[in-house]
Amino acid sequence: MRLRIAPPTAGPSAVSPREPDDDAGAGGGALVAGAWVARPPDLRPPHHALGGRDGLALQKAAEGVAVLFKQLYKVTEFGAVARFWLGPNPYCVLSSAKAVESILSSQRHLHKSWDYTLLHPWLGEGLITSAGSKWHSRRKLLTPAFHFKILEDFVDVFTSQTDTLVKRLRAKADGRPFDVFHCITCARSTSYAFRQFRPWLHPDFVFRRTSHGRKHDACIKTIHGLAKQTISMRRKARRAKRFAAQKKAPEEDFGQKTRQAFLDLLLEYSENDSTITNEDILEEVNTFMFAGHDTTTAAMNWFLYVMGTHKEIQTRVQEELDAVFQGSDRPATMADLRELKYLELCLKESLRVFPPVPMIIREVKEEIQINNYRIPAGTSVVIHVYRLHRDPEQFPNPEVFDPDRFLPENCNKRHPYAYVPFSAGPRNCIGQKFAQLEMKVVLSSILRNFRVESDIPWEEMRVHGELILRPKEGNPLKLHPRK
Ligand code: HEM
Repeated sequence: MRLRIAPPTAGPSAVSPREPDDDAGAGGGALVAGAWVARPPDLRPPHHALGGRDGLALQKAAEGVAVLFKQLYKVTEFGAVARFWLGPNPYCVLSSAKAVESILSSQRHLHKSWDYTLLHPWLGEGLITSAGSKWHSRRKLLTPAFHFKILEDFVDVFTSQTDTLVKRLRAKADGRPFDVFHCITCARSTSYAFRQFRPWLHPDFVFRRTSHGRKHDACIKTIHGLAKQTISMRRKARRAKRFAAQKKAPEEDFGQKTRQAFLDLLLEYSENDSTITNEDILEEVNTFMFAGHDTTTAAMNWFLYVMGTHKEIQTRVQEELDAVFQGSDRPATMADLRELKYLELCLKESLRVFPPVPMIIREVKEEIQINNYRIPAGTSVVIHVYRLHRDPEQFPNPEVFDPDRFLPENCNKRHPYAYVPFSAGPRNCIGQKFAQLEMKVVLSSILRNFRVESDIPWEEMRVHGELILRPKEGNPLKLHPRK
């Protein structure tokens, strides 16, 4: 089946006004992108690779990954299944729940695209980047570390760390704006994004010789150093614990089957199974440090921005907090967190409007049919989460922040794949419950202590879609102490 494609300049946009990075500079040629990006999505056989006008367009696209993110967003105007080429590589962009379901629910299309190989120097082949039997066995091994029972043990850690954060924020809470977006988030994922859409920088021997490559290597050395230090500290702590346990009477531990946290689980396996090497542990620690940190940092930043621009909604969240905590500044318990229903709705809606992982890319290893289009093996399939979450059929007035969309009666009306901030299916986010708990602890504590205000109007916030979705101009917030 072939689609008739409107010329790139045609017609009013069917999508929402908050296009990513709307003022994306000289290279922001969404219209140029239309010329090379938009193709009838019957992907068989490949029509042509890069050249001529397409080459020019690619060069323009390469002026920034944020520009490309915007262009992909534009591509989705051509349909729920749309095709574009990046150099000789065919891509297919999906932006409807039904189309997305075909990939995410499948047990067969679990391979990440080549784009993720650019993360190998940093993450190795950890759970995010691995495939096949390696991914499968690791996923099985690590799943128990995210059992809801073990998550309860983390509440104390979250609350004590949040205490420190609140103390630091108090020093900044003088009503003057400061940017809360963590710089480390940007530094690391930006190197990846910079390289992703510059095919000439893909070979390692070229990239390493550029200033970006040298910076990237130095950054990775620091991060790996931190991961190695964490592993070694944990090993020492385990040895000390074992030593202490040997001194105890054996019956003291009788019947206590303890659940283990992620790193303990890996270390225990490596102690009993020589196939799990130090290298394996390191790549998982790096993977989880990235996956567990950059995403939640972004999500919490976006949530605070939303609160800072929606005063009435913030007041309602704070009324709920006051009702639960009754003015006390005691740390939150699991029971308190369960009662924070409105905060939870707001968090879900914030993850819809600003999904921290704005795109997911898989490579199909065998032909698949999606909405009557044949997608051949070897195609990279982009799930445009940011655009999917703005489908007006699933989310009427998608740019309006409305937490009630997540009331159970409203969720029931939606397609199950319309909302996937944590992905879905067999390769969904292993840490989603952990993340939700952590975010509830941190955000509830911040809003118990401060009122948040932002001067960037809702319609003017511009986003950059990289590995992680971040604000183009930062997120300056003003904090006012509540007590
Ligand atoms: C708001 C916070 C988070 C969001 C929005 C998020 C989102 C996602 C998404 C969309 C994926 C799929 C990525 C892809 O296929 O390319 C993913 C995978 C993953 N996430 Fe998260 N995540 C969050 C927090 C966390 C946390 C806290 C952890 C760990 C403690 C974590 C660990 C992982 C891992 C290991 C994977 C790979 C799973 C696999 O392929 O089997 N994430 N996450």
